[in-house]
Amino acid sequence: MANQLLKGKKGIIFGALDERSIAWKAAQQAVAEGAQIVLSNAPIALRMGKINELAKECNATVIAADATSLTDLEALMNQSMEVLGGKMDFILHSIGMSPNVRKNIEYTDTNYDNFHKTLDISALSLHRVLQTAMKLDALNEWSSVVALSYIAAQRSFPGYNDMADAKALLESIARSFGYHYGFAKKVRVNTVSQSPTVTTAGSGVSGFDVFYTYAEKMSPLGNASAEDCAKFCALLFSDYTRMVTMQNLFHDGGFSNTGVSHLIVEEIQKIATESANG
Ligand SMILES: NC(=O)c1ccc[n+]([C@@H]2O[C@H](COP(=O)([O-])OP(=O)(O)OC[C@H]3O[C@@H](n4cnc5c(N)ncnc54)[C@H](O)[C@@H]3O)[C@@H](O)[C@H]2O)c1
Repeated sequence: MANQLLKGKKGIIFGALDERSIAWKAAQQAVAEGAQIVLSNAPIALRMGKINELAKECNATVIAADATSLTDLEALMNQSMEVLGGKMDFILHSIGMSPNVRKNIEYTDTNYDNFHKTLDISALSLHRVLQTAMKLDALNEWSSVVALSYIAAQRSFPGYNDMADAKALLESIARSFGYHYGFAKKVRVNTVSQSPTVTTAGSGVSGFDVFYTYAEKMSPLGNASAEDCAKFCALLFSDYTRMVTMQNLFHDGGFSNTGVSHLIVEEIQKIATESANG
């Protein structure tokens, strides 16, 4: 399903690692909606990932950039404007990584060098992307920047570790920079708080299977898929959401506003009956 929502628009999609990545689906959707895109990821991910397959399908150029390097980001934006033939209209920040999560280091026993890296890669990178775009005047007026977040920014999900703090910072940067970029250039900045999704980053979180199933049973509409998220991103890049900025938008099938669902109640009743019956 595509409606040429992004006809004539140009943008950068960060973070497509493999076909499960949310950014992978977002790239396919943006192109189906008529956009021209550049794909970017960290140099190591380009070596390990399958991004060239996606680039071929999307008729896109791939440009490496480590989101923690201002030099890389500057080069990426300049080259993107060259390749795309002018200023851009949207950016998807779909970047997250926690060395503490990767190494199974508990939140209460954190390694602070790792913690810094988590914040740098997963949150400050959005500031860097926005600052670079602003300095280079790389975005047209009414452009849209979207970064992907998770509800652990507001509520405690123990297995999510220091990524929770990174997401809280990411959402705050979207609000703070959204203010400045809005006044300066009418550029909007939002975060999308997505349901648990089976991807490399998602599955790396301890207990992921359990909270994927829990969220599925809690959400009146079920978990939102990566494809659904891609469609929502396309809408946010489009002119139909011109006045939406500085928001964290929940894209989670209703999870964030559900206290408890009848499905969870039934599960707990079943367990209680089983344990009462010995
Ligand atoms: N999967 C989920 O359950 C879920 C839920 C809500 C939000 N999110 C968020 O969605 C975003 C995309 O994650 P995903 O689930 O598609 O997983 P993914 O593993 O496919 O994507 C994460 C991407 O971040 C990139 N990355 C890591 N370090 C980088 C660096 N230094 N510079 C540039 N890129 C770097 C990786 O190469 C990878 O492409 C992340 O921000 C993630 O936190 C995921």
